[in-house]
Amino acid sequence: MTTSVENPTILSLVEDIKQTALQDQSPGRSAESHFQLLGLIDKLRLAVETPTETVLRLIYQPPQNAALRTIMDLGIFPLLVEQNKRGLSATELARRTGAERGLIVRLMRVMTALGLCASHESEVYIATEKTAVMTQPIGRDGIPCIYDLTMPTLAKLPDYFREHHYISPKEYSRSPMQWAVGQSQFEWLAQSKHRQGLFNSYMSSRRHGKPSWFDVYPVERLTSGVMDHPEAVFLVDVGGNQGHDLVKFHDKHPEVPGRLILQDLPKVVSRCPGEGIQGMGYSFLDPQPIKGARAYYFRAIFHDWPDHICRKILVNTISAMDPGYSRIIISDFVLPDTDAQLLQASLDIQMMSIGSGVERSERQWRELLDEAGLEITGIWKGNPGMESVIEAVRKEEPSML
Ligand SMILES: C[S@@+](CC[C@H](N)C(=O)[O-])C[C@H]1O[C@@H](n2cnc3c(N)ncnc32)[C@H](O)[C@@H]1O
Repeated sequence: MTTSVENPTILSLVEDIKQTALQDQSPGRSAESHFQLLGLIDKLRLAVETPTETVLRLIYQPPQNAALRTIMDLGIFPLLVEQNKRGLSATELARRTGAERGLIVRLMRVMTALGLCASHESEVYIATEKTAVMTQPIGRDGIPCIYDLTMPTLAKLPDYFREHHYISPKEYSRSPMQWAVGQSQFEWLAQSKHRQGLFNSYMSSRRHGKPSWFDVYPVERLTSGVMDHPEAVFLVDVGGNQGHDLVKFHDKHPEVPGRLILQDLPKVVSRCPGEGIQGMGYSFLDPQPIKGARAYYFRAIFHDWPDHICRKILVNTISAMDPGYSRIIISDFVLPDTDAQLLQASLDIQMMSIGSGVERSERQWRELLDEAGLEITGIWKGNPGMESVIEAVRKEEPSML
């Protein structure tokens, strides 16, 4: 009998993983080698799995997410983290949460198998660093927020397409989420302070430890030739949520002259998001009221919306741009033509579901901006897995470069 380890693909993948892991552990490691390592591990898993095992792995993903969501409701991860390395038994967890002991055992079996905690003796669970991240905003708020926002619609997505002739949705107001639950994402969030709070917290935590747009984009392109008078606006973060990006920008570039303005829906934005930043309620579906800023920055905005609304947002911004001076800066994924990462491909389906949004390829970005009257003057690709930064100017103006 041939064993799978004799399979040359597997052996060469194991060798590649070893080499890449050495690079990833070395002091000069790069984000590239880290992403490459994860990609190779995925490939190795697929190569080792039998086709049947692949099918079974995919089929049983939804119960894992549902179990995780339930564990978040029970608040089990913070209890484990409090114990540090001592661990808690299912009986103790049942006493502390009020849930049935038998149910805790069933749910925690999944958590242990997912690697979200350790268990070295029967029915005793110990926190690991993965447990800890489940108690931080990205896990604590991101998991319930995205589960509740998306799962009811994703469960019905095949039905939606059966009824809608297998055509990508093109209207925010007729998104699959609208069809499945009666609202699209931003109305659904706005309806509950709790949901909106979880979303805001997830927005500000999801890129923790990753480079920001201004680590990828040469900010001198904005600072050189900038107007320097008390009323001049340097940067408007449009749809900037609660201002986490502007706060980071101000921390890194306190020397930049000009005002920093945060805009978002009135229910979302706060008046004083941080030192040196002015908050302002504004809908980007209306003309931009801040005229002649050096840059209008949009992160993770356009992927929420179908093309015709993106064009509207862009045209509303162009109306405020000072020709020859103002630029639009977009931070969003630019999907490669082949081999898109699973995360990016999955986000595209999520954005499509909850608001008819799209993750776009370079060609799609170029078409969208061109149709709105903008010329792309540069695309800075970040690390693999990170959003790119697109700079654009009004088309009719002579290039400033
Ligand atoms: C995906 S979040 C991105 C937030 C932030 N830019 C970031 O990357 O963390 C989209 C943001 O757009 C805001 N938004 C939605 N509709 C809006 C509108 N009509 N006008 C202004 N902001 C809006 C939301 O409140 C939310 O903060």
